[in-house]
Amino acid sequence: MRSPVLLMIESPMLRATLALVVLLPVVTLSAQYQKKTLVAHRGASAYAPEHTLSAYKLAIEQGADFVEQDLAITRDGVLICLHDASLERTTNVEELFPGRVSTQTIEGKTRMAWLANDFTLAEIKTLDAGSWFDKKFADEKVPTFDEAIAVIRGKAGIFPELKTPEIYAGRDVKFEELVAVALDKHGLRGPKADPKTPVILQTFGQSSARRLAEIKIGVPVALLLGSPAGFETAAQVKAWKGIVQGFGPAKQIVLKNPDFVKWAHAEGMTVTPYTFRSSDTGAFKDVTAEMDHYLYTLGVDALFTDNPDKFPRK
Ligand code: G3P
Ligand code: CA
Repeated sequence: MRSPVLLMIESPMLRATLALVVLLPVVTLSAQYQKKTLVAHRGASAYAPEHTLSAYKLAIEQGADFVEQDLAITRDGVLICLHDASLERTTNVEELFPGRVSTQTIEGKTRMAWLANDFTLAEIKTLDAGSWFDKKFADEKVPTFDEAIAVIRGKAGIFPELKTPEIYAGRDVKFEELVAVALDKHGLRGPKADPKTPVILQTFGQSSARRLAEIKIGVPVALLLGSPAGFETAAQVKAWKGIVQGFGPAKQIVLKNPDFVKWAHAEGMTVTPYTFRSSDTGAFKDVTAEMDHYLYTLGVDALFTDNPDKFPRK
């Protein structure tokens, strides 16, 4: 039954936002992983252009348990799947919109960029998101989050990342709430959530992780770590208990400090390191051997890989 307070509020947007806070119960978080788990990083991105529907479909064919999406937000407020905050690395935006470049500071570096948040979805849909990888993918488009869900749901879980939340500061964007609304639209959270399409959220943004906990997002959240700073003792790891349900550390963090896995597990939190790719296996003979070591010797629960077909199942 809808709250009388909500019925009195005229603005649909305001009503939707309040409903997230008022009506959602604290959802019991189901076990995140039932087995050693394969997360396809940006899809099967070793073999198809990252964050395209082809990469997502191939990841499912190769046995992915979850398919990752990095999320960005268009100027007109639509969630799209794009790793970079800007469009020039993976599309032909520079050719189609030469005058739309601006100076941006992204992840601490100032450079000229075609920021996705400066373009409407209609504009972004004119871009070729596949040729940079291989001409045979020239017809690929930047997918919306809705389109990604439609392709993946029922076949694998989704693992969306709230990417570079800091770039939306001052832009009147509520990233966490937009994701919550999208999950609701597709029935992917709450007591009636689709069990065939589990969802785990991830973010490097500590503020964003805290905000997700505040709005009782109701699906597990993994905090991504690019460096061990602030996570070098069991107590520092424990401090995040109840805020996030797991960590996504850069793989070197776990290799250098295997106790990290024990500290997280002692608090009931999962560890999902990134990124395992055949082009960068360090001292390991191949990417399968590397993933095997992390999963079965270091004891991580899951991992992100560009090569889903090389994941070692036992
Ligand atoms: O989200 C896990 C891993 O993908 C983090 O690195 O830069 O590939 O998003 P990135
Ligand atoms: Ca990511």
